[in-house]
Amino acid sequence: MDYKSKKEELEKQKAEAEKELQNPEIKKTQKKKLTKKIYFIEQKMKKLEEEREKREEEEKKKQTDLEKKLEQAKQIKITKSKELEKAKKTEIQNLISEKKKEWVGKRIKVRGWVHRLRDQGAGLLFLILRDGTGYIQVVLAGKLAENYDALMIKTETTIKIYGKIAEDQRAPSGVELQADYFKIIGTSSGEYESIFNEKSNVDVMLDNKHLVLRGSRTSAILKMRSVATQSFREHYFHRGYFEVTPPTLVQTQVEGGSTLFKLDYYGEDAFLTQSSQLYLETVIPSLGNVFCIMPSYRAEKQKTRRHLSEFTHIEAECPFIKFEDLLNIIEDLVCDTIQRILDSPFFPTLMKELNPDLKVPKRPFKRLDYKDAIKFCNDHGIKKDDEGNTFEIGDDITEKPEREMTDMINEPILLIKFPAKMKAFYMSRCKDDSTLTESVDLLVPGVGEIVGGSMRIHDYKELQDAYSANDLDSTPYYWYTDQRKFGTSPHGGYGLGLDRFLQWILKVDHIRDVVLYPRMMGRCKP
Ligand code: 4AD
Repeated sequence: MDYKSKKEELEKQKAEAEKELQNPEIKKTQKKKLTKKIYFIEQKMKKLEEEREKREEEEKKKQTDLEKKLEQAKQIKITKSKELEKAKKTEIQNLISEKKKEWVGKRIKVRGWVHRLRDQGAGLLFLILRDGTGYIQVVLAGKLAENYDALMIKTETTIKIYGKIAEDQRAPSGVELQADYFKIIGTSSGEYESIFNEKSNVDVMLDNKHLVLRGSRTSAILKMRSVATQSFREHYFHRGYFEVTPPTLVQTQVEGGSTLFKLDYYGEDAFLTQSSQLYLETVIPSLGNVFCIMPSYRAEKQKTRRHLSEFTHIEAECPFIKFEDLLNIIEDLVCDTIQRILDSPFFPTLMKELNPDLKVPKRPFKRLDYKDAIKFCNDHGIKKDDEGNTFEIGDDITEKPEREMTDMINEPILLIKFPAKMKAFYMSRCKDDSTLTESVDLLVPGVGEIVGGSMRIHDYKELQDAYSANDLDSTPYYWYTDQRKFGTSPHGGYGLGLDRFLQWILKVDHIRDVVLYPRMMGRCKP
């Protein structure tokens, strides 16, 4: 409790006791007790006041000491020497790279933010400087640590530093910048460290994500996200795909009406897209194999550790393939992309504290028919729900049991051939059993489903029947239907959730932590 609330509480207690004392009906012993109580409350109030006065005095002294120190510091002048060799402008990543030895003894200048600050006293100030490319230890000594500007350096101050690079095994990167001059570019309020810390609750962290993201872990995650996105793109370009950017404002649903975000589009109904799949299908007659990396939206009514309302969807569509080809294509995507991520020069440093043991999964991935997965769950005591019900064919294997099964099998699983009734309208049926679809989910340990895909109905009549069976008005889908009217082709594709993929490879527990500014039920800021 702070001073004000403590005081209010004591005043309340005193007033209550005094009121009771006025009661003519109370006994003598009670009266005595109350008088004693009032006395003790008054003593406590006195002590509280004394403590407040002492604190104020200490604060005042601190303030005068600081003002004195600042006044003295103002007398200390630092200047940029004209005699020293010209400083070469560089980024921190160069100073800590494999070629760092080449910089030793050279005079350089860097700009960045004060990541950490340690005042050793005795005219010695240690900083960890961050410029987005890396971190380096900086030492300010003597006048440089005692002048007015040095006293103004706080965590997150932006600063330009001149100095020489020296080897120092105690420094985190093995080198240190020994400053000979610095200049503050932007001051920092000094409140940064009091806004949040490792123990802050999730909402405080999320409200302050714009500041949290300056931390080394979030920075490493966001950089790995960039590396992974680039690796996916390189995979596709290497395999001869073209990239397209379909619209995300749409008037058709893809994955069922229950997760659509609806909006008013100049007086017409429109939605935020759930998937770019239907548009990708229209492009294959023009571009062949295509992919896109676009946001998709789901009005998820649940808060889980793998659901977002807006996620990054990596989708691809391929003409003239069979179901088995589709499964191989998904395997190739995952394995080749992970290999590219492992080959990235950023991997060793960025993954050091995330998942340095990442490996390319072994191929082929385990194939598991949906009906066998149902049997597996029932055989291994995995329950459908919290009531302990067992699974029946046709049941959705929801997040919890899906993860239990995946973690038990402990390797990527291509879960295939779901019953048509459970799946989206566009999926084609299996040739040997028309109640099943040529569909696939890729499940991975720790996360569960990261990819959903299928072969698509390519027959005109079959598609019309599918609209009816799913109570969909075919009118707004005219452009999708036309694909089956003008030279249809067997084709298939898939969507991979980049955020879930990252959760898996970076071993991050909650999906919100791999996203810059997560959008989830109840959160649309910052
Ligand atoms: O299985 P889904 O719903 O499939 C589709 O949208 C297909 N139209 C894709 C296609 O064939 N082109 O979603 C595909 C993937 C999921 O496996 C998951 O990784 C991700 O998208 N995903 C989500 N990620 C985060 N939050 C959500 N709410 C997600 N919903 C789907």
